[in-house]
Parts: sequence; structure tokens; C-alpha cells
Amino acid sequence: MKGIILAGGLGTRLFPLTKITNKHLLPIYDQPMIYYPIQLLVEAGIRDITIVTGGNYAGDFLRLLGNGREFGLTHINYVYQEGEGGIAEALGLCEHFAGGQPIAVVLGDNILENTIAPAVYTYRKSGTGAKILLKEVTDPERFGVAVLNGDRVEKIIEKPQHPPTNLAVIGVYMYDSRVFDIISTLKPSGRGELEITDVNNQYINWGEMTYEIIDGWWTDAGTFDSLYRANRLVALKRNPELKEALR
Ligand code: G1P
Repeated sequence: MKGIILAGGLGTRLFPLTKITNKHLLPIYDQPMIYYPIQLLVEAGIRDITIVTGGNYAGDFLRLLGNGREFGLTHINYVYQEGEGGIAEALGLCEHFAGGQPIAVVLGDNILENTIAPAVYTYRKSGTGAKILLKEVTDPERFGVAVLNGDRVEKIIEKPQHPPTNLAVIGVYMYDSRVFDIISTLKPSGRGELEITDVNNQYINWGEMTYEIIDGWWTDAGTFDSLYRANRLVALKRNPELKEALR
């Protein structure tokens, strides 16, 4: 299984912080944001990793990460996304890298408390279809929201005004090689991007989507509030005794 980290975009929701760097190079407590998805994949046993980035600061990823020695890797692959075509477009650039193998995709601004190793293990055993991870949140309107029917996912709605559930689809996805066929059929959404939710809904229509609800906290870090929350959660994870000071 190969790993793909999507770290493009202009990070406009974090202006002016992202005027002079890429969002995924901003600090989350004691490490740059991009360290977290790399560690997540490496801990799940995935060692062949591509980072997709774009914009003006792409070279800084190479300077920061090099060949990934800090993570116990011998090399990292880099792909450049021109423009702002969205998550699914960025993923589509990795077809050659995937080479027909199943992939685990992580959005570069998603931070998790716990490992995804068990979910990756279960997916690897089955080897086909897709898997998403879900987490109950208090602000589902900010995310893709899943509607379940027993052990089936019925549909995913992207950023619904009136969320039917509070189950957010987190930015960790597992796919077989058909994901690239789906991406090649997608049309841009209202925000002008190829949406990962459209990819996931296609697997749902085929009856080939599984899900797991994750333990532990999860957050994105693409807005001021969520960036602050991510910093706070990681700080508390590293130093539980900070709780009083951060109150
Ligand atoms: C994206 C996805 C959304 C998902 C979220 C997780 O949203 O479109 O379905 O719930 O990531 O972080 P975006 O960050 O592009 O607004």
C-alpha cells in the first residue's frame, strides 16, 4: 500500500499567515503541520509516500523534509499541483505513483490523536473498494457529512447547511486503483474544484465503501480556530500537565 499526502492549496482562510509560506509548513505546537500526516502513514506501516503540493513555496517542503530520514524513510516523492483544482484533482496527479496499488490518502492539515494502523490493516486485508473514517463533531456543516444505514454508508453530503448527522468524514481515505478512473469523470463543483466527496459517493453507489468511526480526537487546521485547536490538542497530548496553564 502506498501513501499520498495532499498539501497544496493557497491556504486563503489563513491569510496573512499563508502569504509567505504554505499552510502545511505552519507550526502545530512543536512540529511543522506536514510532519503529522507523514508520521500517521509511517506508523501505519506505509513507507512509500508522495507529497502533492503547489503554489510558491513548494521548494520549502524539499528543504524541510529532504528524503525523509527524520521519519525513518529513505526517500519521499514530490508532485506539483498547478492551480487550485481541489483535493480530487491533486490525487489524480498520483496515478503513475500508485502504479495500480491500493493507496491511503491523508489531507495534509488533518491531525489525529491516535494511529490509523488498525483501519489500514483491515482495509489491506480486503484490498478492494474504499474506506473512509468518521468522527462525531459539533460543527458538521464544515465538513463532508456521512449518513449511515447500519454497516453501510448511504451517502456523503459536502458541507450541508442542515447536516442530517454529526458524523464528519475526516481527511483520511483508502482506495483501490479505480479511484483514478472515477477522478477522470468528475466535473468541478460549485467552488470550482474536483471534490473528494464525489469520489466517495461513487464507491458508495457501487456498494464498495466501508467506514470506521475513529477513537480519540481529530481536527483539521485550515482556519484560525481549527489551527489554534490543533496546537492546543497536540500541546496537551505531549504535556498533559499544561492543562492548567492553557485553561
Ligand atoms: C475537505 C473535504 C471534506 C472533509 C474535510 C476534512 O474539506 O472536502 O469532505 O470533511 O476536508 O478535513 P476542505 O478542507 O476542502 O474544506
